[in-house]
Amino acid sequence: MAALPIYVYGNDVLKKKAKALKEISNETIQLIQDMFETMHSSNGIGLAANQVGVLEQVLVVDLSEMEEYKDTKPMAVINPEIIDEEGEWEMEEGCLSLPELRDIITRSEKVTIKYHDANLREQKIEATGMLGRVLQHEIDHLNGILITDHLSAAKRTLLRSKLKKISKGDFEQKYPVVLPKEEKPKKKK
Ligand code: NI
Repeated sequence: MAALPIYVYGNDVLKKKAKALKEISNETIQLIQDMFETMHSSNGIGLAANQVGVLEQVLVVDLSEMEEYKDTKPMAVINPEIIDEEGEWEMEEGCLSLPELRDIITRSEKVTIKYHDANLREQKIEATGMLGRVLQHEIDHLNGILITDHLSAAKRTLLRSKLKKISKGDFEQKYPVVLPKEEKPKKKK
């Protein structure tokens, strides 16, 4: 197993939709193991494949460090789809791809999710609380959506300089990251 570097804000892969998996290859198993390793070594509670530069519908969640969820097994979730949602609640969220940025995000209180497990067996889960929130956050990633996309335009304007700093690597790097490639200056005609 190996911890992979995490793609941060400004990388296109975070804005793209991941593809559904039709089979679980050895590479997929390796990816899942590496994603758990990456998430644990960066102290995250969830991670989507986009964040390690892979456009496949795979996410991992592990809340077992939290007292309330200590009996909840770590999950690998493949091809997730939210089939029902209810209620609303606000909570401050962060994201490994947006270091040092936190904001209040409104999400559904309860979600019903259909997905495949690591054996590609179909599963269904009703998730509330932190589990429901993390699953919604990671499913967003697989659809190319970041927490900043949930904010108002005004709020995003306020965060502009912070986002610029992130994309330039101007933050305390507590885990290995991949920064977006600098755009080449346009040639003068
Ligand atoms: Ni995230």
